[in-house]
Formats: sequence, C-alpha cells, structure tokens
Amino acid sequence: MKEQLATIRTEALAAFASAGTAGDLDALRVKYLGKKGELTAVLKQMGKLTPEERPAMGALANEVRSALEGALEAASEKLEAAALAQRLRDEAVDVTIPGKAVALGHRHPMYIALDEIKDIFIGMGFTVLDGPEVELASYNFDKLNAEEGHPSRDWSDTFYFDEDSRVMLRSQTSPMQVRAMDTMPLPIRIVAPGRVYRKDEVDATHSPMFHQVEGMVIDRHITMADLKGTLNAMVEQLYGKGTKTRFRPHHFPFTEPSCEMDVQCHKCGGAGCPTCKGEGWIELLGAGMIHPHVLEMAGIDPEVWSGWAFGIGLERTAMRRFKIADLRLIFENDMRFLEQF
Ligand code: PHE
Repeated sequence: MKEQLATIRTEALAAFASAGTAGDLDALRVKYLGKKGELTAVLKQMGKLTPEERPAMGALANEVRSALEGALEAASEKLEAAALAQRLRDEAVDVTIPGKAVALGHRHPMYIALDEIKDIFIGMGFTVLDGPEVELASYNFDKLNAEEGHPSRDWSDTFYFDEDSRVMLRSQTSPMQVRAMDTMPLPIRIVAPGRVYRKDEVDATHSPMFHQVEGMVIDRHITMADLKGTLNAMVEQLYGKGTKTRFRPHHFPFTEPSCEMDVQCHKCGGAGCPTCKGEGWIELLGAGMIHPHVLEMAGIDPEVWSGWAFGIGLERTAMRRFKIADLRLIFENDMRFLEQF
C-alpha cells in the first residue's frame, strides 16, 4: 500500500506538470483525486490493515492527497497564466496601424442656399418664420386677394383635402404674409422658408413639391426703392458683387404694382446662351408692393403703412448657385451627387 501511494504520487505529479490544457488537468484530477479515482481506491483498502498500521498509513495517504492537491493548484495557475499571456499576445493592439476615417455628413446643397439666404436677411434685421404646410384656402387665397374663381384656385392646380376646397396644401409661402400680419406688431420684417405643393408633373424643372422663401416688410414710408435695394443686396451676396438685376412688370393678386426680378446670366454675362435660353437673363423671383386691400383685410391702415413682399424658389436658387442642371437631382438623394457639395 505504501508503494501504491508512492507510485500514485510520482505519476500524478508528473502528469499534472505536463498537462497542456485546463481540460486535460481536470481529467487528471478526476483520475487521481475523484470519487472513483486511484487515491480513493487505495484508501478503500484501509479496512484490510491492522489497527496499528492504520494511523501511519492514514497520515501518509493524507500527505499524498494534499501534495496532489497542491500540485494540481500550481499546475492550474501555471496554465491560466500561460493562457492569459497568449491572449495578451493575440489581442495586442497595434497602435501604429492607420485608423479608419469617419465619414462625416454635410448639408444638402439646397439647405446651403437656404442658410445663405437666411444669413443675408438676419443680417438686415429680419425674423425667420415657420408656418403650416396644410393651410386654409382663406389664407392661401382669400386674404391674399385671390377670390373664388381665381385660376390658381383650380382643382387641377391645387391639392385640396375636402370637397368644398377649404383645406389644402399651401401652393405658395405667401399665406405667411397674412399670418405675420395677424400675429406680429408693426413694423414687420420677416422671411418664411418652407415647402409648397402644386399639381405639376415631375421633369427637369418641375416637381409637385418644392420650396419657397417668402419675404415681407411693412413699415411707414416703404416704397418700391426699398424692395429693389433689398433684393439687389441679396443677389450681390448670393451671386457676387456687381451681379446685375432687372425688374419686369408682372401680375400677382396680392401685390400692386407687381414685378418679376431677373439676374444677368452667370454663364454668358448677358450675351445669351443655352443656360439663359438666349435671353441673357434668368428669372429669379416674384415680388411687389403689398396690395392696399390685403393690408386692409389684415386690419392695417394702408394710408399709414406700406410694404413689399417677394417669393423666391429655393431649388432654382440652389441650381443656379451650384450650376445644377436637373431639379430631380435635388430630391433623389443620390450620394454620388450630394457628396460634391
Ligand atoms: N407667391 C408668388 C408665387 O408663388 C410669389 C410672390 C410672393 C409674388 C410675394 C409677390 C410677392 O409665384
């Protein structure tokens, strides 16, 4: 029995020391120290010993057990340390490898143009207003002097929500003129950008949804000269100092007199080319002096107050600003297009 214990000790210690993995080591623990292990098997023979022999053998068996347990513990710690060292080697970070660049987004070209327009007008003391896209026909038409029967109210041009044509998607940002007159104290200086909707087929220059920026000033002694001066200042900041403009007579129900403003073609400088369709000029916006009746309907005395307003198409402004040929590119969100700005 003594020899058996000695053999177990020698064999087990050697086996523990050479175990390659935690799994191997656990199998060895079961083999030598488990309930059906070799050491237990020897201890079961204790009964065969004489009472005199038992204490010495018991002590020896205990000593072998604790030697085995100690060796097992040490071998396990050694394996863990080796595994940790291996992991540290495997997972080491090479700080000299170049990092991955983070792709930053940026503003859409139309919003770049809008931000420029806002900056220009904020710099002149204007307030930026936001308003509803679902609008009452009374604001989009009646209070802007476009009475029942006016061609722009036609069902073929406008998106209505109800049979009696009272609620609609606004077809222009001009209702913001009325909303400003309703809610703001005089004098008023506002710009109001936003989406507008018309029943147009999509092509290179049309979309059923597009953006306008409305501008309006009401004060004492406001004249057409103020309108021209302000719009010229805007154009010079948008398209460069010395950019020429021209004002042509036009008609809008809510302004009198009304005009359209053209800018000299940036491509040919006025000589005439395909971009300006041979005209030398490109139409930019509609404007005019606010009709006295529109002021009266808003409760403003046209003998004391006068004002001007304009409405500019944002897509067209961006297309001209960035030389974009097709309106659809603005809305398609093709990254290859957007990344150019
Ligand atoms: N609302 C007009 C349009 O959509 C533009 C405009 C605005 C004209 C303000 C005059 C004054 O065409």
